[in-house]
Amino acid sequence: MERIVVRGGRPLQGEVRVSGAKNAALPVLAATLLVEDTCVLYDIPPLDDVETMTRLLQELGAHVDVAEGGALTVAAAGQLACEAPYDLVRRMRASILVLGPLLARNGRARAALPGGCAIGQRPIDLHLKGFAALGAEVNVSGGQVEVAARGRLRGASIYLDIPSVGATENIMMAAVLAEGTTTIENAAEEPEIVDLANFLNTLGADVRGAGTRVIQIHGVRELRGGTYTVIPDRIEAGTFMLAPLIAGGTVTVVGVVPEHVKSLTAKLREMGAEVVIDGDVITVSAAGRPRAVDVKTLPYPGFPTDLQAPMMAALATAEGTATVTETVFENRFMHVPELRRMGARIQIQGQTAIVTGVERLQGAPVTATDLRSGAALILAGLGAEGVTEVSGVHHIDRGYVTIEEKLRGLGADVARLTDQEDPVAVTLLSR
Ligand code: UD1
Repeated sequence: MERIVVRGGRPLQGEVRVSGAKNAALPVLAATLLVEDTCVLYDIPPLDDVETMTRLLQELGAHVDVAEGGALTVAAAGQLACEAPYDLVRRMRASILVLGPLLARNGRARAALPGGCAIGQRPIDLHLKGFAALGAEVNVSGGQVEVAARGRLRGASIYLDIPSVGATENIMMAAVLAEGTTTIENAAEEPEIVDLANFLNTLGADVRGAGTRVIQIHGVRELRGGTYTVIPDRIEAGTFMLAPLIAGGTVTVVGVVPEHVKSLTAKLREMGAEVVIDGDVITVSAAGRPRAVDVKTLPYPGFPTDLQAPMMAALATAEGTATVTETVFENRFMHVPELRRMGARIQIQGQTAIVTGVERLQGAPVTATDLRSGAALILAGLGAEGVTEVSGVHHIDRGYVTIEEKLRGLGADVARLTDQEDPVAVTLLSR
């Protein structure tokens, strides 16, 4: 079992380039199923989740290749299969994003139900309600969901009870080939939604209003292939922006859309960091302990739930007491017991964690239980005294491209160890 080992206490200094956004790449890859022609995609990050989506596309009958310049080409010509198997859906919930495009293209689609998940129940009722509104028949039985259309889907007005990112994406993809106009109200406004809409429009779709609460999709008869570059990963960018508040020093994050990380930038300044924005480059400098601030996760443009755990790692050594309220997922505090193992003082009261900053955390063996909690533990290790050994690395590899290499480029003392290597005896690569 691999582990990431961090020896804390080195201030950071340097530049890090952000990879393409995982959460933009996954729906864009799913959307390639809508067309027979080839799609050429740039900045698709080499991550385990992307690999899972690629395998799924291949199982459905698409050809996926790596072209020159690192582009990924997807050609989903001919008859496609219509089932997303349990093995892949279980590995990655975002596999259900193929339902919308398959329904639009094939007239039917089947997937294993994603079931429970480490960060909450995460049902897909809103996705299914959307498909039903478009005229599909929805059947759930035996751990499977099947959606089938009689003829072409019909545009409809759909109100989402919660501005779900996945449901907005799935419904958008189903509606682009429907007859007539679909309106999604209370739609998610995340940058990844805008990116998907831009990609769909590149293919010849007519999607308007993405990035606002109301999205209108005028159905078209046919889509064609296209070339597209996905947006930079705002969550990866945010993770690196938080690092100097924990380890001290100056980190320059290159290739970020500053607008996408506004809620974090505001918090970092409140915490006492200096944040300088210059085009697509953000430089964050910090020294000493940050000031405690209260944080509440919300749908975009609010503070992202995916940065809640990394932010908590920074608040663990802040001066004063902070509250961190999670409103998006009901069970997203699994990093708290692990941070406590490192000496953090955190109490959970319902949806809120009360974080009383301590002078310094202590390195300890800890376990990542999901993607973002893993990133939080690595960050915490950067500022801790001694060695932090993070296991559960496969969670981190789902969403961060070579995080340890990128951190080493900033001067951090971080290494990835295989099972045999002893973290204490090993000479960390940067020494
Ligand atoms: C996406 C992101 C994930 C991020 C989340 C919220 C991807 C691949 N993943 O996940 O990183 O943390 O947005 O920003 O893009 N819900 C329902 N019924 C539904 C769908 C959702 O009740 O049919 C609830 C969920 O349980 C959750 C909330 O809505 O409490 C938000 O979930 P949603 O926005 O759908 O998240 P995902 O698309 O799964």
